[in-house]
Order: sequence, then C-alpha cells, then structure tokens
Amino acid sequence: MASSRVVGLFSIVLICITIAQGRKALNTNNEFSASSLVNNDDGICKSMVETQGYTCEEHKVTTSDGFILSIQRLPTRRSGEKANKPTVLIQHGLFQDAVVWLWNSPDESLAFILADNGFDVWIVNDRASRYSSHTSLTPNDQAYWEWSWEELANNDLPATVQYVYDHTGQKMHFVGDSQGSLMAFVAFSQGNLLNMTRSAAMLSPIAHMGRINSDATRLAAKLFLANYAYWLGIRQFLPNAAEGLMFLKHICDILGLDCVNLLTPFTGPNCCINSSRIDYYLEHEPQPTSTKNLIHYSQMIRTDTIARYDYGLLENLRRYGRVHPPNYELFAIPKDFHLFLGMGRLDMLADVEDVKFLLSYEFKNHDPNNLVQVLKENYAHADFIMSVTAKQDVYDPMIDFFNKQ
Ligand SMILES: *[C@@H]1O[C@H](CO)[C@@H](O)[C@H](O)[C@H]1NC(C)=O
Ligand SMILES: *[C@@H]1O[C@H](CO)[C@@H](O)[C@H](O)[C@H]1NC(C)=O
Repeated sequence: MASSRVVGLFSIVLICITIAQGRKALNTNNEFSASSLVNNDDGICKSMVETQGYTCEEHKVTTSDGFILSIQRLPTRRSGEKANKPTVLIQHGLFQDAVVWLWNSPDESLAFILADNGFDVWIVNDRASRYSSHTSLTPNDQAYWEWSWEELANNDLPATVQYVYDHTGQKMHFVGDSQGSLMAFVAFSQGNLLNMTRSAAMLSPIAHMGRINSDATRLAAKLFLANYAYWLGIRQFLPNAAEGLMFLKHICDILGLDCVNLLTPFTGPNCCINSSRIDYYLEHEPQPTSTKNLIHYSQMIRTDTIARYDYGLLENLRRYGRVHPPNYELFAIPKDFHLFLGMGRLDMLADVEDVKFLLSYEFKNHDPNNLVQVLKENYAHADFIMSVTAKQDVYDPMIDFFNKQ
C-alpha cells in the first residue's frame, strides 16, 4: 500500500510537522532554536528524571573536537536502591536527544526500566542537540555544523564510552537506536571501544541503506545530492525551521502526498504510539542535525556503501589519497561479540531487507549463539522509542540478553 511506504528517513519529521500544523500555525521564523524551548539550566535530570522520583547526575564530556556533550546518569532504582548490575550506555538516533528515553511513563521508558532492573544507566545527548555545547564555537559558526555521523562515531562515542568507563571502572552494555547503532557499528569495525563494551543492543539497526523502500526517503536523498552546495550553505538542518519545512513540503508536492494527512499512515504503521502524548513529544523534539550529516546519509542510500564522506574527486584524492571514499568494514566486528538486533517489519529507515543483507554479508560468520534477533511484525521506526508496549515487545528481551552476558 502506497501510504505505508511513505514512512522513512523523514517520517518522524514529517509527522512532527504535520501534527504541529494541525495543532497551531507553525512559527517558521528562522530564529526558532531548540534551546529556546527549555532553559539549559533546568537540565534533563531536574526536569525529566527527578520529577519521577529517581536519583540523577548531570555529567559533561568534551570530545576531541571541542563539543561538550551532556550526559545523565541514573545510578539507582526508583526505590533509591543502588544499581547492582553493569553499566548501560544509551545512545539516541537522528533528530533526537536523551529525552526520548524518559518521555513516556517510568513503566514505558527505557532509561527508567533499566534503572528499575538494577542497571547503572547513562544516557547521552549528541553534539548540537539542546543540552550540548562547544568549548569555543556557537551554532552561528559554520564549523559548528561541519560533521556527519563519522564524527559522532569516531569522536563522540569514544569520548562518552571512555568517560563512563573511567567513572565506573566497568565494561558496559550499549544500546544504540538508529543512528546510534550506526555510530557503534562504525566504531566497533575499527576495533574501537570493544575492550570497554560487554554487548550491544541495536534498535532499528542502521548499516546498509541501499534497499530502503520509501519513496520519500529516496527522493529526499536525491534532492539533497542534487543541491548539496545549497544545502551545505545552510549547514544546520532543523526540520521545523523555514528551509527544513520548505524541503519537506517539496518532497510531499513531488510525490503528490497530502502531508497534512500523513498522520494517518504513520499512526497506522507505528503500532503503539500514545497519540494523546504527541503535543508533549513535540515540546522536546525534533533536535537539529547538520546538513552534512543528511548528505552523508544520502550518499549511503544512493551508493549502498558504508563509507567515509564523499567530497568529490579532487577533495577525496587530497583527503583519502583515492577517488572514492574508503569503506568502513563491518566484517571486522569480532564474530563472538554479543549482539542484539531489534527490528520492525514496517521500519522504512532500518529496512528489514538492509538488515538481512548485513546479516548475510558482513555478519555471515557471526556466532549465532552471540546474535539475538527480535523482529516485531507491527513495528515501524518510531515504535522502538515511543511504543507504549516497547517494554514487553523489545526492552524485556533486551534485558534478558544483558542478564545472560
Ligand atoms: C582499550 O584499548 C585501547 C587501544 O585500542 C587502549 O588505549 C585502552 O587503554 C584500552 N582500555 C581498556 C580499558 O582496556
Ligand atoms: C497516554 O498518554 C496520556 C497523557 O499523557 C496518559 O494519561 C496515558 O496514561 C497514556 N497511556 C498509556 C497507555 O501510556
């Protein structure tokens, strides 16, 4: 059915916009900035964790390129009892921040569920999201947006894993959703972080993107590549700012989609989202990302590679000494590394066909005893973070997996 194919890379964004349009006239003024919504001093601990009766610590980690990432720790159960199980580090996906692990009720939200199961929980906020900052740059500087998922994998994730390891002295379990899983695959493929990690649970795992079935996502990729110079000039991609809206409307026009009605196909495929909480979600998300990051995804979708950023012939020669950017070799991830993959049949970004290809190619020889797969037939991309039944569907099996390591 055509409508279910629409849910893709930009689905969450489109939906957010759609709902926002239904809710009130959108302020498309470019002055809009995510940080205007919540005062940084309020912090995630104070506004989202302590209010639910949990202990919370705010931490800051500085990356090798100067980004100051905000990290929260939930070191106890709600009862106050200290964690007696290993550390879990949770890394969110594109257009999000750590809030997504806390925004349903404590019985439904992954960070609280893990804390109540006795884990020492750490949740990370990406560079350029609301609660992060930089040692010298501001969002008005071009250099603040000069990165893609490569820098997240090679700078941010190593900085956070090392920081948490230094604090706890313990190897940790890792949870990565969507872009968070890509970051970890890329880090692990280079042999990084494995000596500080017990296992990894990848939700909506992103590696190959060549088989994505969504017309909207493929078109977005095409448009970004065709106009990359223009988009690079914009640098910050905030979906609910003027350029982002214009771009997404353009996609809807070309595909003949009535974007106002996108909510219907969306709440269909995403089986289990609590629609009465949508306004609340929209107070927190989406967070901005860099245009360069979206162009890098577009390259992956078009070329079906997991490669470094493609700067074009001359700049590739200068930077990499070769015409095409080098690949990240996921073959190199150790065969006995403990992996959990949580997949949704209706996920149009982490397309099941792409994950199947990963399993049959790079992970062909992975020890089956160390590879747990949970495929939910009724799940789409957002269910892994928003579903009111994610606990029984995905988080409980994930916790069983952690408990076995
Ligand atoms: C992990 O390996 C890196 C080298 O790849 C090393 O610098 C680091 O000290 C190691 N950490 C632990 C905890 O073994
Ligand atoms: C859905 O959200 C509403 C409003 O926050 C809440 O009262 C209700 O308990 C939620 N339902 C579920 C199943 O989580």
